[in-house]
Amino acid sequence: MKTMKSLIIRICILLSFGFCVKSASEQYPSAPHIVIFMVDDLGWNDVSFHGSNQIPTPNIDALAYNGIILNRHYVMPSCTPTRAAFFSGKYPIRMGMQGEGIMGGEPRGLPLNVRILPEYLRDLGYSPKLIGKWHLGFHTRQHTPLHRGFDSFLGFYNSHIAYYDYKYSQGNMSGFDLHRGDVPAYDLQGQYATDLFTEEAVKIIDHHDPINPLYLQINHLGVHAPLEVPLDNFDLSEFAHIREPNRRNYAMMVTRLDESLGRIVASLGDKGLLKNSIIILMTDNGAPTIGKYRNSGSNWPLRGTKYTLYEGGVRGVAAIWSPRLHSMARVSNNIMHITDWLPTLYSAAGGNVDDLGEIDGINHWPHLHQGKEIPRETVLLNIDEVSKTEGAIHRRFKLVRGAYKRGYYDQYYGESGRNHEVPPYNYTLVHRSFVATAISAHLGDPMTQPSAMTHLREQASVLCRRKSTFSYCNETECLFDIVNDPCEATNIAKQYPKVVTELDLYLEKYGNVLVKQPRLPIDWMADPRRRNNTWEPWLNPEMTTHLYGYNAASGFSTWTIFIHIGMTLLIVTLKLFN
Ligand SMILES: *[C@@H]1O[C@H](CO)[C@@H](O)[C@H](O)[C@H]1NC(C)=O
Ligand SMILES: *[C@@H]1O[C@H](CO)[C@@H](O)[C@H](O)[C@H]1NC(C)=O
Ligand SMILES: *[C@@H]1O[C@H](CO)[C@@H](O)[C@H](O)[C@H]1NC(C)=O
Ligand SMILES: *[C@@H]1O[C@H](CO)[C@@H](O)[C@H](O)[C@H]1NC(C)=O
Repeated sequence: MKTMKSLIIRICILLSFGFCVKSASEQYPSAPHIVIFMVDDLGWNDVSFHGSNQIPTPNIDALAYNGIILNRHYVMPSCTPTRAAFFSGKYPIRMGMQGEGIMGGEPRGLPLNVRILPEYLRDLGYSPKLIGKWHLGFHTRQHTPLHRGFDSFLGFYNSHIAYYDYKYSQGNMSGFDLHRGDVPAYDLQGQYATDLFTEEAVKIIDHHDPINPLYLQINHLGVHAPLEVPLDNFDLSEFAHIREPNRRNYAMMVTRLDESLGRIVASLGDKGLLKNSIIILMTDNGAPTIGKYRNSGSNWPLRGTKYTLYEGGVRGVAAIWSPRLHSMARVSNNIMHITDWLPTLYSAAGGNVDDLGEIDGINHWPHLHQGKEIPRETVLLNIDEVSKTEGAIHRRFKLVRGAYKRGYYDQYYGESGRNHEVPPYNYTLVHRSFVATAISAHLGDPMTQPSAMTHLREQASVLCRRKSTFSYCNETECLFDIVNDPCEATNIAKQYPKVVTELDLYLEKYGNVLVKQPRLPIDWMADPRRRNNTWEPWLNPEMTTHLYGYNAASGFSTWTIFIHIGMTLLIVTLKLFN
């Protein structure tokens, strides 16, 4: 790709096409440092800024209270679609990525002709770095992070790994999955994954030359199943109030994530980068409270879990912090979607969003940075032609149709995450957290007055009256008023037929551009036993085109570029002589 790009640039310069010159990297000396802290399968109710005292998350809370709590941040219902949407700014239905997560051995990935965030940021002088989960395909080398715009990568290709031995299993296949760049990182085995990724992040920050803008994305394994806890230095009595043992273990895993954020923000401070940073915290989807990969997370009181289009699946924990924000220490109830980050970050970094071509994401930066008007009112939640589920939101209305796995995930779960017999919220912990300490050391007083924190927590909490009955949406469609009924108990489709029709037309419009999911069987040639018990790319890009008929390696070959340029010149010439 690199040589190809330089080839294009050289051809452009040769032909002195004015418009091509833009793609050569320009320097924006004041471009912000961007740190993405993406957590896996964390539930709505698993951070204490949403009102639960059960698992204290003082660092996460300090970041949220001092920035903007994004309280209506919509994500996709599971990992692969969320990551595809985040990186591409496109609804996954446009790329056939709207369904299940990629399984080990499945010869499938984010199509190579889709340009993604790290590639765009490179054009602006960033050298993007990825730590942790990828999960956008690795059947060919070209699908892996270093070949898609990242300059460095320490992490895993599959949906998850075990926290200590970094192994992933699929059917009868099992193997090691931790890579540094393109190479298996056998030497790193044994350290708790959350700590390993934190240390890598701190190292990258320590070695960063502050003259260059930093893009660092930490896609934590935590708190995806399996429930493996950090074994060292843990005060078990801290969670004595949680009676359920799995939930107690989960609490320890969440605490490690919270510390991770604290250490990363502290190192940004020590390095003098904090004043010029944008830090975003988000989960990729709601917690899977039941099912094979359940993690004892809680989306309470929201309905549904990961995999569903109910709020528990798609209304994800999120917050943004930056001194560049227009107004801070507040809760935003504006609708924001995971696809919006590509244009928002590109714009924050000094880019012109027109460069991004046809995307579904909407730029929120003018709003976040200057308080300009609210950019989004409508969002497509998903259309999954395989599970036959679909949904969309317009302002306070949400239309949902169908049920994943016959409605198995569509109820209310995670009640053990409710507040009973828990210690009071500890304001001192927030005040003394790494995050609050770093903010006060480098930027002045953080927002840690108990009264202010209490106010923000109240605003960020969802309260619902316990409903004894609720509507299923697998037999009839459901319309919910998610502002007044955030727990989606009452179907109001009959009362608002016009709204239903409008949302229906909206869904139909997107149904027309949907690219069907390529449902490819697991390829047993991927078996790690063939590659020193390690998950590694196992196909050549040419082979995938040949074998599966769909162009996994789409992108442009050198020849198509030559043909393309040839055709363009021909057309230009013809026009000139017309
Ligand atoms: C693993 O399972 C698949 C499908 O059941 C089978 O085709 C394959 O031969 C098995 N591989 C081994 C090494 O047992
Ligand atoms: C709808 O979901 C409910 C609850 O899971 C289930 O009992 C019912 O059988 C489902 N109906 C259909 C048609 O799948
Ligand atoms: C809050 O946390 C601090 C620091 O760990 C501790 O000293 C204090 O006792 C806690 N306060 C309460 C009310 O639990
Ligand atoms: C194979 O894997 C082991 C660890 O399981 C490692 O020590 C060894 O160096 C690897 N061999 C090669 C050739 O990479």
